[in-house]
Amino acid sequence: MRIRSIELELPDRDSAVRFFRDTWGLLDAGERNGTSYLRGTEDIPYVVSVTESGEPAVTAVTFSGSKTELERIRRRAAAARVPLGPVRKFDEPGGGSGFYLEGPEGHVFRFVVERKRAKKLRPDRDRPLQVTHVVLNARDREACTRFAVEVLGFRLSDRTGFMNFVRCDSVHHAIAYAQSDNSWLNHIAFEMIDIDAVMRGIGRLKDAGIETFWGPGRHGPGNNVFAYFVAPFGAAVEYTSEIQRIGNRYKVGTPGDWKWPLNRNDHWGVSARNAAAISQAERKFSFRPLVAS
Ligand SMILES: [Fe+2]
Repeated sequence: MRIRSIELELPDRDSAVRFFRDTWGLLDAGERNGTSYLRGTEDIPYVVSVTESGEPAVTAVTFSGSKTELERIRRRAAAARVPLGPVRKFDEPGGGSGFYLEGPEGHVFRFVVERKRAKKLRPDRDRPLQVTHVVLNARDREACTRFAVEVLGFRLSDRTGFMNFVRCDSVHHAIAYAQSDNSWLNHIAFEMIDIDAVMRGIGRLKDAGIETFWGPGRHGPGNNVFAYFVAPFGAAVEYTSEIQRIGNRYKVGTPGDWKWPLNRNDHWGVSARNAAAISQAERKFSFRPLVAS
């Protein structure tokens, strides 16, 4: 199982596509039925879809897996009486079939068995490889984590004072739940090939008039290098690299394991976090309820 893409609805699709392609570094992966698709350099058919809509929203965070993995999730979701869509085919790059389901706070996840992988492209320091994690705000992050573990079959990697990190493969986290008073999108993280690529990205965004609101820095849980920005269409997006790969014997961290010294909230301590910028970005992106997907 791996995280594959995020599906967005935005009032100005064309300008969002221009940002993702010309500034963020994604590549055009085509357009179908009014939806634009963008990809990174990994073998994933696309990593972001953008559909024009009156209100900004997330319609799903998409994972791809084997037929057996999807059948298991579907069985557990049905047993847990989780809102569950029908199995259907998807007309999109990579094709395949799958289904949507909804988590306890309205976070919509889609699971797809891909018909075919895309051709892997040559790694490029100015382009993301793929989407590597999505962070979701949660009113009750423990209930969301139980759902991710018990229904989706994910594993808890770490728990800090305000976030729970869960994984679906060896990457430290594919989803993290951030304790909040809402259930909106927190941010989308794109993996870069190395620190140099993250730093080049910071420069490229700066050239486009977009400063980081946090970063560059190195996180505690996951040990990844990060830089966060607010995209012109309103969502918080992250360049990241060197995310930790872990095995089944990884000891789940507790808030006591992730304490920072005073005035420090990452390993480097070279950049402060602009909390106002991220809460403004979060406000724009709620999940479209499953019935409407
Ligand atoms: Fe992140």
